[in-house]
Amino acid sequence: MTSISGLLPSAIEAIGNTPLVELSRIARAIDGRILAKLEYLNPGYSKKDRIARQIIEDAEASGGLKPGQTVVELTSGNTGTGLAIVCGIKGYPFVAVMSKGNSIERARMMSALGAEVILVDQQPGSAPGQVSGADLELVEQETIKIVRERQAFRADQFRLQGNFRAHYLNTGPEIIRQSGGKIDVFCDFAGTGGTFAGCAAALKEHNPQTKCFIVEPEGAAILAGGAVTYPNHRIQGGGYAMANLPLLIRDHIDGYLKVSDARAIEMTRRLAREEGIFAGFSSGANVAAAMDLLQTSFKNKTAVVLICDSGLKYLSTDLWEK
Ligand SMILES: Cc1ncc(COP(=O)(O)O)c(C=O)c1O
Repeated sequence: MTSISGLLPSAIEAIGNTPLVELSRIARAIDGRILAKLEYLNPGYSKKDRIARQIIEDAEASGGLKPGQTVVELTSGNTGTGLAIVCGIKGYPFVAVMSKGNSIERARMMSALGAEVILVDQQPGSAPGQVSGADLELVEQETIKIVRERQAFRADQFRLQGNFRAHYLNTGPEIIRQSGGKIDVFCDFAGTGGTFAGCAAALKEHNPQTKCFIVEPEGAAILAGGAVTYPNHRIQGGGYAMANLPLLIRDHIDGYLKVSDARAIEMTRRLAREEGIFAGFSSGANVAAAMDLLQTSFKNKTAVVLICDSGLKYLSTDLWEK
């Protein structure tokens, strides 16, 4: 068949190359610019499609994943959605193990994409929508059990370099290209820390003067050395109060920022109303943290953040009630 220019062989090739947009309305009252990478425009509506593709393709290349082998991963929904897409297209059965504390539309979307979804009860006392590190530990135990039982490949997003490489090889270089290389500061709400690690490495390699900040929930800022007084925060996808994130490169962390639930929610709502960007809690946290940077040590500078996932993933929560 004659090849048609611009035609992609599958949705996998539609992952990445997301737009970079200036948030001129939200930032109009401050001196400085915020550039936002619209990761919710990936096929699975989150940045995690990128790592799903990289982890699977790295494992195919190394022989760690055999044809037709089952893939299993612990997920807050986004990595699982990416893996469901990539595994579905490539023909690997996929099992997603998720806490019941994550929003239900994520589980529905993964099953629609052909995944087997196993939901794990939260710790007694944990509230739905508020997944703590302890809840995640229960999901981890279940994941380990399923991997063993099914002799599966674990697409381990907390440990595998594919998570780092997806952002180091793609997200970071895309930001550099799309911004003309003029980024002063980057901040990112950490879950596995893979996005931070990969983007920070690429940005600093391009310009060692670029400063990179970790964003954590108020009351669960363990990476900054804080005490965990509020593990059940609302910012889904990260802030698990895990002191050791294997993918993080400590030398690339120039500082730490904290964002409260209320500020993350307020900024997520502003993104929708003022910028037409329909995103989730962690995207609001990233933008709120960038505003803090531009109003303090980085006046008149350019900050970049990721818009991690879509607001559609939170329709069952009270994020959009007002
Ligand atoms: C919505 C959302 N935001 C932020 C993160 C954190 O990203 P990372 O794991 O790269 O630190 C995740 C990770 O699952 C996520 O799903």
